[in-house]
Amino acid sequence: MMSMNHAPLSILAACAAAATAIGPATAGADNGKAKAEMCVACHGENGISATENVPSLASQPDLFLQWQLIFFRSGARKNEAMEPIAGQLNNEDVRDLGAYFASLKPADASSVKAPDDHPELVKAGQQAAAAGRCASCHGDNYAGNKAAARIAGQREEYIIKALHDYKAGVRSGGGVAAMAEVAYPLSDDDIAALAHYLSRL
Ligand code: HEC
Ligand code: HEC
Repeated sequence: MMSMNHAPLSILAACAAAATAIGPATAGADNGKAKAEMCVACHGENGISATENVPSLASQPDLFLQWQLIFFRSGARKNEAMEPIAGQLNNEDVRDLGAYFASLKPADASSVKAPDDHPELVKAGQQAAAAGRCASCHGDNYAGNKAAARIAGQREEYIIKALHDYKAGVRSGGGVAAMAEVAYPLSDDDIAALAHYLSRL
């Protein structure tokens, strides 16, 4: 784990529980596919969400997926829809689901996004992403890296919600307060531009 000096107790508890929970799936992604049937109603076919405020899971890093399920299960990450679902998952389920959704292809921006009629927002988003050094943690092309989410191709309104949640301290994330520090100085305009740009990658 990274430094946890400022992590709330609930996160520390989640991390302690996760020390034994997080790991590679023993049977690869195959077990996860069957278990993921109960996720389709909200997260969509093949992990690509067609529902407002529900994130796509396809092609998220395995580690990011496992951590978020552990956070929901422990209550460190609050959500009425996810907490009861994660509460039913054992450690093996968490690993299988992580492996499965990580193995899926990401949403094809050209097929799921509305045509872009705001080139100035794309440019502003690109600049804000460079200024915020988002790629240093989220990886090349924002495709995600370890515990840092894929943000390329995520639903626009969900990116906005997530950034507001970090900014307001509603969502704290694991280990260090990385995203809280990143989100705090962002204005509503920055957030709108970032979401517009990233969701269309
Ligand atoms: C009743 C609807 C519903 C069902 C069923 C559901 N989810 Fe979710 N899930 C959500 C919502 C809503 C969020 C966004 C929570 C938020 O805004 O913080 C979410 C968030 C997540 C996240 C965090 C992703 C991110 O990008 O932050 C993961 C991982 C996840 N769900 C996994 C699952 C898995 C695995 C299943 C099936 C075992 C599942 N969910 C079933 C509604 C659902
Ligand atoms: C210091 C590393 C770091 C930097 C820099 C960073 N992020 Fe993050 N980001 C993370 C981590 C780690 C997570 C997962 C946190 C958690 O567990 O909630 C995350 C999560 C997110 C999420 C939530 C994704 C989801 O599906 O739930 C969004 C959106 C996001 N970051 C956007 C950005 C943007 C936009 C920037 C640049 C302005 C940025 N991040 C810069 C590390 C970083």
